[in-house]
Amino acid sequence: MNVIHVSAECYPIAKVGGLGDVVGSLPKYQEQAEVGAKVVMPFYDNKFTAAHKFESVYNSEMVLGQDIYPYKILKLKKDVLDIEVLFVDIPELLFKDYVYSADDTARFTAFQIAVLDWMLTLKTKPSIIHCHDHHTGLIPFMAQECYKYEALNQIPVILTIHNAQYQGWFAHDKVHYLPAFDISNIGLLDWDGVINPLAAGIKCAWRVTTVSPSYMQELQQAANGLESLLSHENEKCVGILNGIDTDVWNPETDEFIAKNYSAKNIQTGKTANKKWLCKEFGFSASKPLFAFIGRLVFEKGADLLPEVFDEILSKKECNILVLGSGNPEVEDNLKALEKKHKGVYNTFIGYDEKLSHLIYAGADFLLMPSRVEPCGLNQLYSLRYGTIPVVRSIGGLKDTVIDVEDGGFGFSHQEASEADILQTLNRAIAFYKDQPAFKKTRKHIMGIDHSWNVSAQQYIDLYNSLKSD
Ligand code: ADP
Ligand code: GLC
Repeated sequence: MNVIHVSAECYPIAKVGGLGDVVGSLPKYQEQAEVGAKVVMPFYDNKFTAAHKFESVYNSEMVLGQDIYPYKILKLKKDVLDIEVLFVDIPELLFKDYVYSADDTARFTAFQIAVLDWMLTLKTKPSIIHCHDHHTGLIPFMAQECYKYEALNQIPVILTIHNAQYQGWFAHDKVHYLPAFDISNIGLLDWDGVINPLAAGIKCAWRVTTVSPSYMQELQQAANGLESLLSHENEKCVGILNGIDTDVWNPETDEFIAKNYSAKNIQTGKTANKKWLCKEFGFSASKPLFAFIGRLVFEKGADLLPEVFDEILSKKECNILVLGSGNPEVEDNLKALEKKHKGVYNTFIGYDEKLSHLIYAGADFLLMPSRVEPCGLNQLYSLRYGTIPVVRSIGGLKDTVIDVEDGGFGFSHQEASEADILQTLNRAIAFYKDQPAFKKTRKHIMGIDHSWNVSAQQYIDLYNSLKSD
């Protein structure tokens, strides 16, 4: 069996969020389970592409509406990654210093057409095409409906939804971007009067997965307009919990952190990393350190944080550190707290992979008050680094964090509200004061296995079930 993952992101080449982490690690575990797995992604203008050499393995032209673009399929000259990655190089559209922009319709439609054009030329066709999110949601439709891809229409296509908040909507006047198909099937592309790549993917994929079981259930209730579609397609839908790359996220070997540690020397390890953070951000190491890492957007509940922090910090019982960027108003509100709560609060606005590792290693608690969380990887990284998660019970957070009051190892609250977050923070601060229980819990969470071993197999079973369909 050989699978091709099609994605806009793949760590360490291009990562905006968890999608990059998943696509950068799942194929590795599939290979270990003896399933051939490759990734194909856009060729961006970024640090990774500038630092490596590539060779062309295919060279052609592709058509997008009235326009013709030369394109290449590239691969790395040296095997510097654990997985095989191929790149679609359409210089005019994709070679940019960003992954996403406001109008991505032309860029990602061209990417998907180029991928399918190239697949037509392959002597050994993939046995499965695995698409990720709406940027690749037109592939299931095109492979099935566009005449030129007839040779591909027997290949099972899977669509994994990492985030249904973004659906890639575009107006009908751009439908001519797609290669010819029977126009009476336009309904497969349309949802509520616009072309909706995520909806098209859900309708046409052979199977649809979400990145946690609870998120699938939640989407069937409320999915930004797609709930009835997902309920209707229930038979082919399944939630498979994400795993993490335990080589990249390993406190024993992590090169980004101040001191490596395992569950055996967790006390010295966590203390050294916490000291580093406290020195860097001007905190006293004696108080519990709470951290938030992530996109500062509504989905993540980031807008709730300034008020909550302002209130809890006035008691001077904890330190709080934020790493993230997003909504400018939320950024400003979080930044504004620095002056008022000097010595107990700090913010790093921006994206910093190294600092994120240092925070997972050095913080005592990690906050995730998400309104929506399809899976969430932060809480899985924090468990692995012995940092206790404080989360809203939703989506993947609900599937992975059990509250201490229910015999578990974390803190969770029902609502994404200031009152609920505040109350839960207070519970966590009280828990920290019980040092024996706190230490026992953080040692315990380091041993919880969220590696891909289980989930990668679930995907393989899904692929196998389609082979015999
Ligand atoms: P999402 O994909 O919705 O943003 P996930 O929890 O799945 O959320 O994954 C987020 C990933 O991005 C994690 O690897 C997290 O550490 C990383 N991340 C988010 N924001 C930042 C940031 N500002 N700096 C460094 N890493 C970040
Ligand atoms: C999305 C989701 C996040 C998930 C990630 C990887 O970005 O928001 O919850 O963990 O994809 O699947």
